[in-house]
Amino acid sequence: MVLLSSAGGRLANGTFSRWLGYGLAELGAGVLPFAELVGPRSTTIAKAAVERGQTGPRGIDMDFVRQDGSIASGRVWIGGRAGADCIAVVIPRGDAMALPAVAEGQALEPPQRMSGGSDASFFSRSPLAMANVDGAGAVREANGSFARLFAGSDRMRAGTKLEQLVAERDVPAVESLVRETLSGQASGAPVDRLYAANLGPGGAGAAIYVVDTTAQRALEAQFAQSQKMQAIGQLAGGVAHDFNNVLTAILGYCDLLLANHRPSDPSFPDIMQIKQNANRAAGLVRQLLAFSRRQTLRPQVIQLTDVISDLSMLLRRLMGESISLQVEHGRELWPILVDVNQFEQVIVNLAVNARDAMPSGGVVTLRTLNVPAAACAAYGDASNLAPADYVLVEVGDTGTGMPPDILEKIFEPFFSTKDVGKGTGLGLSTVYGIVKQTGGSVLAASELGKGSLFRVFLPRHEGAIEETQARPAEPEAKVPDLTGQASVLLVEDEDAVRAFASRALSARGYRVVAAANGAEALEAMDQPGTSFDVVVSDVVMPEMDGPSLLRELRRRDPKLKIIFISGYAEEAFAKNLPEGERFAFLPKPFSLKQLVAAVKEATRP
Ligand SMILES: Nc1ncnc2c1ncn2[C@@H]1O[C@H](COP(=O)(O)OP(=O)(O)OP(=O)(O)O)[C@@H](O)[C@H]1O
Ligand SMILES: [Mg+2]
Repeated sequence: MVLLSSAGGRLANGTFSRWLGYGLAELGAGVLPFAELVGPRSTTIAKAAVERGQTGPRGIDMDFVRQDGSIASGRVWIGGRAGADCIAVVIPRGDAMALPAVAEGQALEPPQRMSGGSDASFFSRSPLAMANVDGAGAVREANGSFARLFAGSDRMRAGTKLEQLVAERDVPAVESLVRETLSGQASGAPVDRLYAANLGPGGAGAAIYVVDTTAQRALEAQFAQSQKMQAIGQLAGGVAHDFNNVLTAILGYCDLLLANHRPSDPSFPDIMQIKQNANRAAGLVRQLLAFSRRQTLRPQVIQLTDVISDLSMLLRRLMGESISLQVEHGRELWPILVDVNQFEQVIVNLAVNARDAMPSGGVVTLRTLNVPAAACAAYGDASNLAPADYVLVEVGDTGTGMPPDILEKIFEPFFSTKDVGKGTGLGLSTVYGIVKQTGGSVLAASELGKGSLFRVFLPRHEGAIEETQARPAEPEAKVPDLTGQASVLLVEDEDAVRAFASRALSARGYRVVAAANGAEALEAMDQPGTSFDVVVSDVVMPEMDGPSLLRELRRRDPKLKIIFISGYAEEAFAKNLPEGERFAFLPKPFSLKQLVAAVKEATRP
């Protein structure tokens, strides 16, 4: 339902007057200008909008004071010349028309019977799209806003049927709305945001009002999409966490078996097979964790140009013969704070996808540049790219491109159009997770048959540039001595993991007391004459989690060493620990060797 008023207060239609509980004469005569009907919470915003003469295409929400003092809210569009004589259009909140019932036999005020002012300017200058249709539903006349709204439609001509202008699925509803409105006195129920009002007796014609909801729709779609990604992320993270416990046990028992079999033993290669497959599963779980942004990142300040130069050798090899890789480095790129290994993963995934999209060859372009906050609007709106200084990495290809219905799903885990066995559909989900966890954004654009362009925005790092750390050297090949005699308190609620870890440590000479939860751990600690050198504890446990347990343990022994083991990232729980707390961290799934090495390291004198 649409309400009209001139902001100067010289005009008001019957619907507007009735909405606020006034007689048409009271408002129409300009006794109460528009601005004085606005509620106290909205006066500033209303005044500014009236002075500017517009509210923009989305309108603004305002309160109004009814004659009886109660508050009515609605969305308001103001249009016209700056100053007092612009036109306001109000749509009551939620479309719930709390209009006082019209007494039987009392005619509704049709728009052309507004008191005062000229109908012509009311119509032509309205920010709301308005048109008149004749008895047959053909457009007789339309105002500027209506013409603009349907400008994309080449079907817009005088005499065009209204139904020809709307989307196919809305045609039946619009047809029946117009029919109903023309045949009756009252307005029919609106179709989406298209309203119709009867213009007079005898089915002479109807007024059509349309509110442009394009921007709102886009926003809603974006919101729904980000909600969906978050929900999938939560699910993926949960699955990954449980899977890591399972994999820790499988890998652990493989290690125990392998330790008892010689390589010449016929079972040895079979056990190796199990282990390799479990490791593959662990790789998939890592990607899921990356997507749900729960992996441990080791960010460092880097110059992107260096990293990309280093990487381009590998990329060239990945691209193969028929694809050429063009690298364009931006000048004086700002430093960024990223986990280099993960960032390389991002670029490799994007490049491999680009390659796969060009089965008969083509060009992959890798381009970097600085994007200052002021330039962000050129790439996306605030909902997908918050304005800030970014370093942008573009990966473009000249491949097959994607239709919109595929483009909207590509970041979902396990979405793949590739043949079974060719793609897992985790490449872009990993990219998405890593970039989001780094505080950036990734946007994709594509045109079918032309190619695709992926843009990765990484936040500019403000602050001193530290020396780029050298990558940690690969562990030495020589077999270290991993035995020890220290006493270990092992706290883990997952039976299989606890059993494996306990056996692995005992076999290396450690004295192990195992506990299934925090309470058991404290009980073990409180046994007279007991002391432990190191605690190996799970993080997520029912009743008492790792960090809470640590607090209790510290009270008993402030010098106790602690190793947390978890299927989640370190960041996920580190914030629950007291400031400056020192601990080691072992991500699940871990191998037997990693476990004993961590304990050895922690108990090193
Ligand atoms: N550059 C591109 N051009 C055309 N389509 C693409 C491009 N990049 C991704 N896609 C589409 O997005 C889908 C998902 O990509 P994603 O990298 O997540 O998975 P995948 O490549 O199929 O498998 P994986 O990367 O796990 O091996 C692809 O299957 C493909 O349909
Ligand atoms: Mg891929």
